[in-house]
Amino acid sequence: MSTLTLNDGASIPLLAYGTGTTLLKNKRSRATGGDPMALDRTVIEHIKTAIRLGYRHLDTAEMYQTEPETRVAINESIAEGIVKREDLFVTTKISSNFTQVQNAIDASLKNLGLAYVDLYLLHSPYWTDSDADLQRAWKDMEAVKESGKARSIGVSNYSQTHLSATLATARIPPSINQIEFHPYMRQGDVVPVAFSHSHSNIATSAYGALAPVTRNIPGPLDQTLESLAKKYGVSTGLICLRWCIDQDIVVITTSEKETRMKEYLTVFDFKLTDGEVQEISDRGTESVGGKELVPRVIRYYRSLKEKDAGGKAQ
Ligand SMILES: NC(=O)c1ccc[n+]([C@@H]2O[C@H](COP(=O)([O-])OP(=O)(O)OC[C@H]3O[C@@H](n4cnc5c(N)ncnc54)[C@H](OP(=O)(O)O)[C@@H]3O)[C@@H](O)[C@H]2O)c1
Repeated sequence: MSTLTLNDGASIPLLAYGTGTTLLKNKRSRATGGDPMALDRTVIEHIKTAIRLGYRHLDTAEMYQTEPETRVAINESIAEGIVKREDLFVTTKISSNFTQVQNAIDASLKNLGLAYVDLYLLHSPYWTDSDADLQRAWKDMEAVKESGKARSIGVSNYSQTHLSATLATARIPPSINQIEFHPYMRQGDVVPVAFSHSHSNIATSAYGALAPVTRNIPGPLDQTLESLAKKYGVSTGLICLRWCIDQDIVVITTSEKETRMKEYLTVFDFKLTDGEVQEISDRGTESVGGKELVPRVIRYYRSLKEKDAGGKAQ
């Protein structure tokens, strides 16, 4: 699988299989009435399928509660001779108390049954109160990298402001910023700024990249995507993934369908021209339904604040 070289020299596979969103443990257990603490064999099988088909980058997080399933899927895939640990790139994230980075990485490594993760991320800056908190958390992340428990360290859902605050005191710059990113949501200047900020070369990884075909439909991009899909003989979803990769953006997707998992691996079999990448970007600036899209993480954060304010008012 094609890779990108991070600013610390590590190679990251450009396509990842995500174990959040639809595979989220509490979402699945609510739907099935199952025990959220029990291992979910269906999730394990999805991850094993992804590995068997050729995905080498797995994305999980403390918050998804899918680290134990990822452990079992990795162990069984290794035992079946499909991969070795060193073939896999495993990303996880600290999602809760950023003052407890050391405890959190140890818990994640235990859940994952690994001696190290390839990439460890601070999941969201919206759970801290100040620049000083972000800087303290980043210092602890640097210690995680130096201990060898994570080969690379990075952030997620950071805006330009959060990146600047972090870089002001960082000894080691984040290697990547994982954000919601698609043609209708390019997060202002955060991507070029991350890359050029003090020459930090912070890479970007995208989640939600399929929004133009899954969430924001109908939209101004529909015709462009259809005609490019026809030209390359692929699906419109694949055009969305390729649009990220052609900008050196690592893309994380997920699926519960083997056919789709297999199809999305063919993203490396074609390439958009620079003009086509630009055309998608240009059409993406047209509004969807007359609204400016708000990143999911910010909507989630606002809903928590509202709930909190409601609780305090009672
Ligand atoms: N850092 C963060 O805060 C954060 C936030 C969100 C997600 N993530 C990570 O990113 C991963 C992917 O996130 P995402 O779910 O937003 O990604 P996505 O790739 O935009 O969407 C994947 C979903 O779209 C569906 N899908 C795929 N192709 C489709 C098509 N052609 N038509 C209709 N539906 C289609 C899939 O369903 P099927 O099962 O039917 O294929 C799946 O439910 C997560 O699992 C997680 O690891 C990180």
